[in-house]
Amino acid sequence: MKKEQINNDIQLNSSAKLVHLLGLEGLSKQHLTHILDVADGLIGANGRLKKSKALDDMSIANLFFEPSTRTRNTFEIAGKRTSANIINVDLANSATKKNESLLDTMHTLSAMQIDMFVIRHKQSGMPHYVAENIDNVAILNAGDGINAHPTQALLDMLTIRQHKQKFEHLSVAIVGDIVHSRVAHSDIEALKTLGVQDIRLIAPKGLQYDNKNCTVLKCFDDIEAGLKGIDVVMVLRLQKERMIEADIPNEQEYFANYGLTPERLALAKPDAIVMHPGPINRGVEIDTRVADGGQSVIFEQVTNGIAVRMAVMEILAGKS
Ligand code: CP
Repeated sequence: MKKEQINNDIQLNSSAKLVHLLGLEGLSKQHLTHILDVADGLIGANGRLKKSKALDDMSIANLFFEPSTRTRNTFEIAGKRTSANIINVDLANSATKKNESLLDTMHTLSAMQIDMFVIRHKQSGMPHYVAENIDNVAILNAGDGINAHPTQALLDMLTIRQHKQKFEHLSVAIVGDIVHSRVAHSDIEALKTLGVQDIRLIAPKGLQYDNKNCTVLKCFDDIEAGLKGIDVVMVLRLQKERMIEADIPNEQEYFANYGLTPERLALAKPDAIVMHPGPINRGVEIDTRVADGGQSVIFEQVTNGIAVRMAVMEILAGKS
């Protein structure tokens, strides 16, 4: 599906209440802040996640058509911590292998009285297509092609807010394969909506966002110039599964030119935080000393994924 055909209009009802989470375009600062506030409220004073009974009458299906470690498992944990009945649909052994269409599979699961579908798919726009064609099921986009990964961006915003409190005066750099990254696309939306004025996109020309966006955002192909005085550095892996052969950079050359090393990180503010959605490729986009260093918040992002996914499920269920 082309980008212009993908819109999130149906995720809000006529009262601007969230009924699906398909993407962050079209959501207001109030929507995003409410999700972050509910997520924060689910984290206890000791940093442990709370349990809730909010979804004890609901069933949720995890439908991952692409591999995942963080998103799939944190959705499952989030479902259990909100007391929902959550199933991981075994798509490799499902009737889709007997040529059942995606919509027939979805209608079949809906007939099992499942209330929410969490969908990851390699095709951009697939969660939107399901939302348009299945009634009475809330759709959560867990990453579609190169289009969007809204819960990843929300957990990133929660992590930034925990460390930096406010967004308006921050300088945030996104470094790496921006053009193929659904995470970058959703992060850019969230940062803009939450008021960040200085968003820097650092990438070689072939992996940079399109030129139209570089008129609003600040695009750099020189990593040292882009990192100067930054508060937050978000590092992305090379999304080889979405590249054609001609696009795939030589990894050693890429690391030499764009890898986040301690020397390059020293150009950022001394209290800058380093983020990465994972999975990380050490020695390709990030030096292992940075990934494991004192400024890295990579594992905090993973834990925050549970709180954010609990919050989104509760909000979609009308419980928060
Ligand atoms: N960040 C992220 O989407 O990771 P997974 O592919 O492991 O879910």
